Amino acid sequence: MLNKLINFSCQLIIPVIAIGSLSFSATVMANNGWNPVIPYNPPGVVLNLKKKNIGLVRTGSYLVNAIGNCNSCHVAPTKTTPPSSSVYSSGDPFKGEVAVIDFARYLGGGRIFGAIAAKPATATTPEVIAFKGYTADNLRPDISGKPAGLTKDEFINVMRTGKDPHDATRIIQVMPWPVYQNLSTTDLKAMYEYFRALPTASPLTP
Ligand code: HEC
Repeated sequence: MLNKLINFSCQLIIPVIAIGSLSFSATVMANNGWNPVIPYNPPGVVLNLKKKNIGLVRTGSYLVNAIGNCNSCHVAPTKTTPPSSSVYSSGDPFKGEVAVIDFARYLGGGRIFGAIAAKPATATTPEVIAFKGYTADNLRPDISGKPAGLTKDEFINVMRTGKDPHDATRIIQVMPWPVYQNLSTTDLKAMYEYFRALPTASPLTP
């Protein structure tokens, strides 16, 4: 009976170990389709899972890509004139097409919100920018591996309080942090771990 039990548990454990070592030994994973390890990661977004907490990356990917909609504002605009802020490299979901996230521009930052152009009264001078607007930051890791150049505590703090991590006197605008502030600390840590798994992209705007 005991033998049978041991045998049975071995049959269970060995496949679990095999699956575990497969996912943990994968350093760079190309996702050409929604994959079972990080199921909510968009196809085309490549992750580096080395020394990452896979469970947190999975939850983080879900929060960022299935709920948070971070890329719609933090996508790097194209250099075309006028710049496009479509998040897709091909396909348009609103036309019923299969859309692919533009990985080169994914969360790369640089979109400007609320800029105001003003014409001075003296009409001969060119148009000036009256207000330069708010630029969505690059959320991909810098060369030291920190997403948006922020430590985990700095990231959690800005998501919770909206306080600009680079200027304590101001509160960041546009960004829906008053909604995100309700996320649990574990969820915010998961988002941070997911961003950590993204490759650095510099310069980010193609
Ligand atoms: C509606 C557009 C919008 C959405 C959606 C959005 N952001 Fe932002 N975010 C911004 C803008 C704009 C700024 C800069 C605002 C400013 O400086 O006043 C910003 C700033 C930030 C910063 C501060 C970075 C720094 O170094 O100062 C972080 C962190 C951040 N966003 C994370 C996120 C995350 C994570 C998500 C998704 C869960 C997200 N944002 C979704 C527009 C957005």
